[in-house]
Amino acid sequence: EKGQTPYEALGGEAVLTKLIDTFYGYVSEHPDIAPLFPEDFTETKRKQIQFLTQFLGGPTLYSDEHGHPMLRARHMPFVIKDTQAKAWLECMEEAMEQTNITGPIREYMLERLRMTSYHMVNSQD
Ligand code: HEM
Repeated sequence: EKGQTPYEALGGEAVLTKLIDTFYGYVSEHPDIAPLFPEDFTETKRKQIQFLTQFLGGPTLYSDEHGHPMLRARHMPFVIKDTQAKAWLECMEEAMEQTNITGPIREYMLERLRMTSYHMVNSQD
């Protein structure tokens, strides 16, 4: 359909929620990044759904509640090297596969997330 946002192309809230639930399941089991996260992913998931909703052109849920994302600054408390960016992306790719996100929306999201992920790198391997 013409004039769709990526958020709509993905399938909106239902698909994004499923993707993010699946994603943090993989994150919680990935040895390179799991130790960085709190034991309870409830709040992390909630914020990530808010962020990705607006990142994909949906409602500005994240900024409405938390202000400017400043994602790189918000990640500075954590040591993030290329290894961690790669691990994050691996978990996202697996989650997309598991959630049956395919085709142009998959490629579009992975390309933008790859850039964002490496933008978070704040230490050298
Ligand atoms: C928060 C790790 C990449 C979006 C966090 C937190 C950690 C983390 C440990 C804090 C979790 C918590 O306390 O609840 C990482 C690592 C990355 C990465 C290791 C690898 C490069 C990304 C990317 C995005 C993202 C690519 C966006 C597409 C967020 C958001 C939050 C967050 C929105 C919540 C910020 C807030 O507190 O408001 N991340 N992250 N992260 N991350 Fe990442």
